[in-house]
Amino acid sequence: MNDTVLVVDFGAQYAQLIARRVREARVYSEIVPSTISAKEVRARAPGAIILSGGPKSVYAVPAPTLDPAIYELGIPILGICYGAQLMAQQLGGEVANTGVGEYGRTELTRDGATVLMTEWPQRTTVWMSHGDAISVAPEGFVVTATSLESPVAVMEDVARRLHAVQFHPEVAHSERGQDLLTNFLHHVAVIPPTWTNSSIIEDQVAAIRAQVGAERVLCALSGGVDSAVAAALVTKAVGTQLTCVFVDTGLMRKDEGEQIEETFTRQFGVELIHVKAQDRFFDALAGVTDPEKKRKIIGELFIREFEAVARDLTKDGQGPRFLVQGTLYPDVIESGSGHAANIKSHHNVGGLPADLSFDLVEPLRTLFKDEVRRVGEELGLPAEIVWRQPFPGPGLGVRIVGEVTRERAEILRNADFVVVDEIKKAGLYRELWQSFAVLPVVRTVGVMGDGRTYAYPIIIRAVTSDDAMTADWARLPYELIERIANRLIREVEGVNRVALDVTSKPPGTIEWE
Ligand code: XMP
Repeated sequence: MNDTVLVVDFGAQYAQLIARRVREARVYSEIVPSTISAKEVRARAPGAIILSGGPKSVYAVPAPTLDPAIYELGIPILGICYGAQLMAQQLGGEVANTGVGEYGRTELTRDGATVLMTEWPQRTTVWMSHGDAISVAPEGFVVTATSLESPVAVMEDVARRLHAVQFHPEVAHSERGQDLLTNFLHHVAVIPPTWTNSSIIEDQVAAIRAQVGAERVLCALSGGVDSAVAAALVTKAVGTQLTCVFVDTGLMRKDEGEQIEETFTRQFGVELIHVKAQDRFFDALAGVTDPEKKRKIIGELFIREFEAVARDLTKDGQGPRFLVQGTLYPDVIESGSGHAANIKSHHNVGGLPADLSFDLVEPLRTLFKDEVRRVGEELGLPAEIVWRQPFPGPGLGVRIVGEVTRERAEILRNADFVVVDEIKKAGLYRELWQSFAVLPVVRTVGVMGDGRTYAYPIIIRAVTSDDAMTADWARLPYELIERIANRLIREVEGVNRVALDVTSKPPGTIEWE
């Protein structure tokens, strides 16, 4: 047995959240599909298994199920919501469609000897979301908690180490939810809390060293969190064998290039090739207004620039054999198989020609974003990089609505800096998913001092979101909007008007192009 927890996926969002909560309890977790067989589970010898919730009813056809032999392996199992009902049904209990269900905050009443809820008060608030409910627990199980509509809200078979909860311990609204998970992991499954930032770093450093040996490694830095943390890990592992490439497209945020240079060259002592490709990008974008065309041009040119550096480095046969990718765990899961995620968007180098084939080093592929940030902090990366909001690959190019020129990019970069600076001063930067400026290529009339102005408007775009799939416009305080607007007009030459985007996603997208 090892210390890994397998989270069996009956519905993706639930499983990811559970996996993250398990890791918050300092136990390494991995998500596996519900089709996993008992044989595969035995081969992986996990310290515990958690069955996730899911959107289906156990009576739906087809409903995802579990190889029943898994219950016989002696591995501690915790079923959650759908997972709980499935466990009840498969082990001989009953699940009823009561037609009532429970949604949202629900009172849970503890009753009977429990190993999951030791030291809990008799009543607590938990988060429920279910239509069906377990009506009869299988033989061997003791019902240890109930709620109004769930006669079997928690059931436990201590001897067989099987446990099931109807509510969602992984969501913050369940008062003692994390406590329940921690109890299950540390006391029922007896897994020690050893998955820490330093253990992640140690493991990855060892893995990178084993993979690359004495070979050279190449990494494209984008200014974003993932590539920076990946590069920092590789630096810690094989220091001088790493060469980083930063392609300045002219469409980056203010000071992004300087920050990368400062951190990687001066602080970490890494060899950094800073490609100043601004002119070539602006030339290629001249006269182009179609968003998709812009994206394509920027993406292809980026690859060409990167490729030129890579070719230069590899021409004597001594060049890098490995390429660092900042692939994260959610990309790996979403690609379905747990195998290499499709290399996506232009900031990766999926489009490199075959004669420049690299072996990939992906030191973040087991990590969630919040873990990447914590690892980055522990590795000594500055907060500006570690906590940076997401930024699209084509950069400011898709925030200038119309033709991209050097002058407009400069105006937008300065405007973006003001927006972000004020948001940071208001203490909102980490709360917001993204906050930035947009420059539509229209000019309007204004008056400033004694003179008439004819200049660009800036749109303030600020959104809250969990995953960028949906987003809500952020209700920024009026005083903050006022400060941003005043500074934009006073400090950013070329701007004479400010507007606020109050569109959610859907129907809008976060970016304007
Ligand atoms: P939208 O605008 O579609 O954006 O709501 C969703 C998220 O994706 C980012 N984004 C991109 N990222 N290359 C990227 O790497 C792109 O071409 C691109 N376009 C949008 C956007 O910033 C938001 O976080």
